[in-house]
Amino acid sequence: MTLKNAATAVRLNAHAPYSNFKVGAAIRAASGQIYVGCNVENVAYPEGTCAEAGAIAAMVAGGETRLTEVFVIADCPAPIPPCGGCRQKLAEFGAGDVTVTLATTDGGERTTTIGDLLPGKFDASHMDRS
Ligand code: THU
Repeated sequence: MTLKNAATAVRLNAHAPYSNFKVGAAIRAASGQIYVGCNVENVAYPEGTCAEAGAIAAMVAGGETRLTEVFVIADCPAPIPPCGGCRQKLAEFGAGDVTVTLATTDGGERTTTIGDLLPGKFDASHMDRS
């Protein structure tokens, strides 16, 4: 199973009746295992969750905390840019040089890295006042 196939398949399970915008994400963890997630919206709109967050939650629930590759796909005119919150979530578990492939359902792809998606990220050093 490729990350692309996994993300494409899980996207179909997205619960997106409010935006009608289905997103699928697949991440490869350090063990090689693939974890997937899709967006899950709620009638109380702020309670919805992104596909990337779902995949990360599945990875952590599976006992892993490091990711080595990411693939995100949606039906959009240009490869989907992860939202700001998901960039921070990806940075929590992946190094700056981790490859992130952003894709459209009609074959468009853009490859970037976690570091390029979140320059100047907030990290633990910013809480160190000693
Ligand atoms: N969405 C994601 O799942 N990931 C992103 O990175 C961008 C946005 C979802 C959230 C919401 O369900 C829908 O796309 C429209 O914003």
